[in-house]
Amino acid sequence: MKVLVTGGAGFIGSNFVFHMLKAHPDYDIVCLDALTYAGNLSTLAPVMKEGNFSFVKGDITDRALIMDLFAKEKFDYVVNFAAESHVDRSIEDPGVFLRTNILGTQVLLDASRVYGVKRFHQVSTDEVYGDLPLDRPDLFFTEETPIKTSSPYSASKASADLLVEAYHRTFKVPVTISRCSNNYGPYQFPEKLIPLIISRALKNETLPVYGKGENVRDWLHVDDHCAAIDLILHQGKEGEVYNIGGHNEKTNLEVVKTILKELGKPESLITFVKDRAGHDMRYAIDPSKTRRELNWEPTILFNEGIKETVKWYLEHNEWLEEIISGDYREYYQKFYEGKDGEA
Ligand code: NAD
Ligand code: DAU
Repeated sequence: MKVLVTGGAGFIGSNFVFHMLKAHPDYDIVCLDALTYAGNLSTLAPVMKEGNFSFVKGDITDRALIMDLFAKEKFDYVVNFAAESHVDRSIEDPGVFLRTNILGTQVLLDASRVYGVKRFHQVSTDEVYGDLPLDRPDLFFTEETPIKTSSPYSASKASADLLVEAYHRTFKVPVTISRCSNNYGPYQFPEKLIPLIISRALKNETLPVYGKGENVRDWLHVDDHCAAIDLILHQGKEGEVYNIGGHNEKTNLEVVKTILKELGKPESLITFVKDRAGHDMRYAIDPSKTRRELNWEPTILFNEGIKETVKWYLEHNEWLEEIISGDYREYYQKFYEGKDGEA
């Protein structure tokens, strides 16, 4: 079997490449990635020389390149992780989100249709369901929850999901979609909450918490997400959506304090800053369909997983430092400038 993994130089995509090479040593894995600011080739260094792994630098919106690649490689499976993924950036500059997340997905769907694949899997997000109120802990996102987006990022992901469903119905492309909650683990870009807090706390820098830190996210270890996608790819029903999550809701403040405790750093580093525009209050996934139909269970408890993750970043300081230079440092200064004390 030959699998195309797009966005495999990013956080979840790289972890999925590692998962697939281990779980299916007889498969050929081709990773396509444009190496945007979020893609890092050094992340894939440990597998670059594997005989059944190859890397192609390319943009999913580049129709000629994608068509040529599909013609040459004759993929059995396509798993689309490639995306602009950071909500704050989508608020600053929505255009590139629409281009990559919507038009890029369309190009991949067209290629899958023309060349034929056994499965096109779209890696989507729980953010397409909007948010839930804090005072209704009984409510969860199911696959039937209506799409209702808040940010240009989530709107672009929802648009892609609709296209995927349309290509299934109209052109019979064999698709599946997964919608997962917030991931944490190794190789996450340090613009996202958990690696941002770890990297800044290590340097005793202020830790920007939006608003009052009351917003709730439902955290899942990236390995559990990758295992679920593998199951959906092989056993999921064509045309279906699968929610992925582990019922692990935490306020942002709880997460930040847990990390500080793990690092032995003081809570006085926490700085409440101006809230994210349109900030979703609470995400909470009901994963019962995926559990019931695919026998998937999360395996990593947050208390253990976050300890391992903090340890990983401590042991891979070079990886962090390589990223926290140049462009990213400029982004941080520009984005957070003047937000302190505005909460
Ligand atoms: P990421 O930003 O870490 O990685 C995205 C990767 O896509 C990068 O390697 C980047 O270079 C590549 N890319 C961007 N634009 C591209 C283009 N036009 N062509 C080819 N490659 C391009 O993102 P992530 O956190 O790993 O998320 C991966 C996917 O999972 C996304 O589709 C995201 O919406 C989804 N998702 C993420 C989470 C999460 O918590 N991080 C949860 C649920 C779903
Ligand atoms: O739910 C899945 C989604 O999770 C994915 O689809 C997205 O790609 C991924 O980025 C993530 O989105 P969030 O917006 O939830 O993640 P982020 O790490 O940006 O923020 C997590 C929470 O922490 C959120 O409530 C905002 C808050 N936050 C974030 C940053 C960067 C802060 O308080 N301070 C910060 O500096």
